Amino acid sequence: MRMSKIRVGIIGAGSISESHMNSYHNNPDAEIVAICDLKEDRAQAAAKKYGAQHTYTDYNELLANPEVDAVSICTWNNSHAEISIAAIKAGKHVLVEKPLCRTVEEALDVQKTVRENNKILQVGFVRRYDPNISLLQSFKEKDEFGELYYAKASILRRLGNPGGWFADKERSGGGPLIDIGVHVIDLCWYMLGKPKVKSVTGNVYQKLGNRSNVKFLSFYKAADYDANKNTVEDLANALIRFENGASLMVDVSYSLHTQKEETALKIYGTKGGFEIDPGLVIASEKHDVMVNIEPQVDNKGFNFVAAFQNEIDQFILNIQNNREPISPVEDGVELMKILTAIYESAEKGVEIQL
Ligand SMILES: NC(=O)c1ccc[n+]([C@@H]2O[C@H](COP(=O)([O-])OP(=O)(O)OC[C@H]3O[C@@H](n4cnc5c(N)ncnc54)[C@H](O)[C@@H]3O)[C@@H](O)[C@H]2O)c1
Repeated sequence: MRMSKIRVGIIGAGSISESHMNSYHNNPDAEIVAICDLKEDRAQAAAKKYGAQHTYTDYNELLANPEVDAVSICTWNNSHAEISIAAIKAGKHVLVEKPLCRTVEEALDVQKTVRENNKILQVGFVRRYDPNISLLQSFKEKDEFGELYYAKASILRRLGNPGGWFADKERSGGGPLIDIGVHVIDLCWYMLGKPKVKSVTGNVYQKLGNRSNVKFLSFYKAADYDANKNTVEDLANALIRFENGASLMVDVSYSLHTQKEETALKIYGTKGGFEIDPGLVIASEKHDVMVNIEPQVDNKGFNFVAAFQNEIDQFILNIQNNREPISPVEDGVELMKILTAIYESAEKGVEIQL
């Protein structure tokens, strides 16, 4: 027998909400019934497009609607914790965009609320839901890579500070580290098998600013872009040590004098290594011969649309089956510990023990 549809509310109807709404729309077990945004016209436009009956500018009113079973929280980072807690207390299941929030204290409050209530909270670590990650996990389960002991991730933008809320530390919690670094640090940590973090050392730089002076080259700007407002770092780098001896090196930037944009994510093991970005490759040894294996897949790189669909489909299945997500609240908390330790290490100029 078919279960009744999960009725979904969307809180925050900006850029990324479109990927959530589109994916719910494609899921036959989900129905978008309510949309909330501080900007009424945004909520109304989305409601019209996706056939939602209710629109709000105050998320508390959406949460008070008994017709809503679950919410996607797609607001700026400063309200993720507050809205997640309110939603769980109102009896809703939650899919919250990354990062879980801005601080460890906020993250622990969210975790406590989730564990005191029998509701699902899934953190939107969308990269975990990419088809190539499932492929690599199945290879890993068959011990293709041996012990994974080193990971390296870079997302270097040379002209990539989106401005608006992204560049406002109060609303974002930080710059490229918390915005794009969170994705790759999470993915490396996840693929390494979520080892316990031992220590973190990091550096953060604010040298070039948002490069709004640059001419003849266009770049993505947030809707509320203001060239004069920027309170976040340009570049962050870090070395993360794990208790099992593995380590992760990461660097991420919004602004940098680099020749071209770079995205790389590589993980190395005793029997083989693999690259996730920019494209899927496995490096190994067979019969004393070094080999590079290129799996033949639909998308060699990150398949944003497929990953989003999978993330939303899994969220609906988790609710229907009362099943723990592969990106539970505890992982959101661990990432906040890592990110805030990098900022703390940079500020104090010392290694932070966790
Ligand atoms: N998973 C990904 O790959 C990915 C990509 C982009 C953004 N994100 C995350 O999604 C979130 C939103 O980013 P975005 O790029 O869509 O930003 P955005 O500015 O385009 O949209 C955010 C929307 O939330 C609304 N909003 C803010 N606070 C609100 C509140 N308290 N109540 C109701 N509405 C509120 C704003 O008015 C705005 O319309 C961020 O947390 C970001 O980190 C994730």
